[in-house]
Amino acid sequence: AVRRVTARAVLDSRGNPTVEVDVVLADGSLGRAAVPSGASTGAREAVELRDGDPRRWHGRGVDRAVAHVKGEIADAVTGRDADDQAGLDAALVALDGTPTKARLGANALLGVSLATAKAAAVSHRQPLYRYLGGADARVLPVPMMNIVNGGAHADNPLDFQEFMIAPVGAESFAEAVRMGSEVFHTLRRDLLAAGHSTGVGDEGGFAPALRTAEEALDFVMAAIERAGYRAGADIGLVMDPASSEFYRAGVYAYVGEGVQRTPAEQVDYLAKLIDAYPIVSVEDPMAEDDLDGWRELTARVGDRCQLTGDDVFCTNEALVREGIRTGVGNAVLIKVNQIGTLTEALGTVNAARRAGWVAVMSHRSGETEDTTIADLAVATGCGQIKTGSLSRSDRTAKYNQLMRIEEELGASAVYGCAAASAE
Ligand code: PGA
Ligand code: ZN
Repeated sequence: AVRRVTARAVLDSRGNPTVEVDVVLADGSLGRAAVPSGASTGAREAVELRDGDPRRWHGRGVDRAVAHVKGEIADAVTGRDADDQAGLDAALVALDGTPTKARLGANALLGVSLATAKAAAVSHRQPLYRYLGGADARVLPVPMMNIVNGGAHADNPLDFQEFMIAPVGAESFAEAVRMGSEVFHTLRRDLLAAGHSTGVGDEGGFAPALRTAEEALDFVMAAIERAGYRAGADIGLVMDPASSEFYRAGVYAYVGEGVQRTPAEQVDYLAKLIDAYPIVSVEDPMAEDDLDGWRELTARVGDRCQLTGDDVFCTNEALVREGIRTGVGNAVLIKVNQIGTLTEALGTVNAARRAGWVAVMSHRSGETEDTTIADLAVATGCGQIKTGSLSRSDRTAKYNQLMRIEEELGASAVYGCAAASAE
């Protein structure tokens, strides 16, 4: 049973405060979880409670969320069975009482939810992926590694937020990491040689002053090939335009590129990029408010490209079900803090997979050294993870944890794409 719950503010990777929770069980088992934070958030995300006091942390303090954990939430959770994660999470949702977790804060609730799961795993003397995923948990995800940053994650003129590489042809997760690292360093050399900055953005990818998606894709393609790999067969391209960020009054307003695209033109543009490059997945190609555009693009390219909904679904099972019913995309990004409890996030994964959709476990642009999502990717066997670049410890911590898990699983480990093709 839960004996003690406490919380504190710690720093995230952008130097902003975030909630960290400790849960201690009666047998002394400690679970600790730090909550991530987004910059290009979806409108329907669960509410991240910030103090809003401009004299402290520029308004971004989390003292109220921390106080909620130490007060009301600790009172409600103390004495509860830590093995009953679903019961605990339902109690947290009920205690908050709002549909968006606005009263206590999704950051307060998620910290307690994850820390409890981690404490229970310790108590059972199991790694988290095994405790949550059982004996079947042996699939390592294909990483989508974000090597060029733009949009809300960097100060360059690039409109699209993320350009990623997915080592689909790797034999193992460790090999995928090596391939990613080699491409990352090759890209660095290429950018430098072309006179570009090699400073990195929030997720650890380079943030050169490029203006168009084609320029970024060409650099990435060249780096893949110069590093000795085949673009497509060995390493696929992935993009997250995060297009809700530049969709205004019914048009996609590209600032860096200096053009506007109507939803029909946006569909056309993306379809052409997907045909011209070995792009295996695009996240948020259309804005969260442009469901017609989403449906049009899905009908046009959904058979040959993964279309992953982030802002449009916000890890919300009801929104994903609606998307499945109405042909909005064919995959969902899973960010635990978009919904606020572990049980709800796992419910969204299951609903997606029952419909034949892919679920992609994901970090936020504001992260910490917490590696819970690495374990969640293996626990769910979802087959894909998006957790940033090959630099910055907040990103590499997740890759390092996945390599440890792969080592621990030994011969029983299966690398994501192999599992997908074997099914
Ligand atoms: P975030 O964005 O800044 O909201 O975490 C990441 C993403 O769009 O996938
Ligand atoms: Zn996104």
